[in-house]
Amino acid sequence: MEFTISPTLGINERIASMHNVYDFGLGQSPFPVIPSMVEALKNNAHQKDYVNVKGLLPLRKEIARFHKRNGVDFDPEDMIIGPGSKELLFSLLFTCEADVFIPTPCWVTYPPQCIMTNRKAIFMHCEAQNNWRLTPQLLEDTFASNESSNRKFLILNYPNNPCGYTYSKEEIINICSVCHIFKVTIISDEIYGLLTHDGHHYSTSLYSRDIIVTSGISKWAGAGGWRLGYMAFTEQNRDLLIAMKQMVSETYTSVSAPIQHAAIHAFKETEVVNHYLAKARKALLLFATKIDNILKKVPSIKFSKMEGGFYFFLDATALKEKMAKHEIYTSNAFATFLLEKHQIAALPGSSFGRPKEELSLRFAYVDFDGSRLMKYGLNELTDSVIQQDGQKLIEGVKKLKQVLTNF
Ligand SMILES: Cc1ncc(COP(=O)(O)O)c(C=O)c1O
Repeated sequence: MEFTISPTLGINERIASMHNVYDFGLGQSPFPVIPSMVEALKNNAHQKDYVNVKGLLPLRKEIARFHKRNGVDFDPEDMIIGPGSKELLFSLLFTCEADVFIPTPCWVTYPPQCIMTNRKAIFMHCEAQNNWRLTPQLLEDTFASNESSNRKFLILNYPNNPCGYTYSKEEIINICSVCHIFKVTIISDEIYGLLTHDGHHYSTSLYSRDIIVTSGISKWAGAGGWRLGYMAFTEQNRDLLIAMKQMVSETYTSVSAPIQHAAIHAFKETEVVNHYLAKARKALLLFATKIDNILKKVPSIKFSKMEGGFYFFLDATALKEKMAKHEIYTSNAFATFLLEKHQIAALPGSSFGRPKEELSLRFAYVDFDGSRLMKYGLNELTDSVIQQDGQKLIEGVKKLKQVLTNF
């Protein structure tokens, strides 16, 4: 296989030497690390011992309590802490032979991880008319036409990167029941779960026990660079947990001890965490509304309805004849054109599992000072604050509108 850096990290390196770029590339949380975690990290700098392979027990217990508050029982013994959920997913795919069903657009990392671990990936291309969400019908048709005796996984990610959609309770119930019929285990990537703009998130774990939930502190706790994620298993998939434990013990051993101690504070239900989340959600909702209002005036494009996290997906394939005049025939060429001619950095849809010739892009709307916004009270976070503090981001979306309108 050809080895290349992940496109999201690649674009960061590429624009580092450019000036005045409207940066919609890397999807990193714009907000600071939750303050109580920072305090705890300082207080735990002296923690020097290796930690249990599955992770620090008080952390696993706190995560179990967090899920319990949301209505689900997980045994702390059925969890594994890793240096990011990305690493855990890789270990899981490595440890067991499985066919992997992936709805697209999907997170950039799923396809390369399947290639690297030699797993068969079966893609389901979801449609713009459904806000790119997976429908039970597509799922059922795909399972029915891909029967095999292998273990099967569906990787379901919501709120979604790259589209920013989430699923309603009914939709999750329907997806779980199709998976149940076809005996497919859901790997439920809920890393943006606490960043739904309206605060509602329905975990697959509420409706099925044949699931593995993955999450962490990278997105909703602002701590991507701390590198801590987790996987929660149920009694139904303990064989995988045992295999994972061996994998961990022979690779990274355990996540940094001070980070594990500090991460406990992300999962506690405290005023600090609640306030932080309320403000992060409100700021993201205000930005999403603003972006929606600007882009809906552009004729002939489709873009996703933003309901959680900080991304949107845009498809301008209807402009393909006009784009051909600029020799743009692929999403990659489209992204290059926007960056080189208009200083707009976005990622090509092909990096998210879409056909090359679909003229689609992913945008992360995080280029604002989240630390500054966190200093406002919840009620002070208004449209005019966003307008002022998010000036560059909004200017970038307006520029995008102008480019697309005048193609
Ligand atoms: C959908 C999705 N899952 C997982 C991750 C990885 O998170 P972690 O930092 O826990 O490895 C990301 C990060 O961009 C993501 O977008």
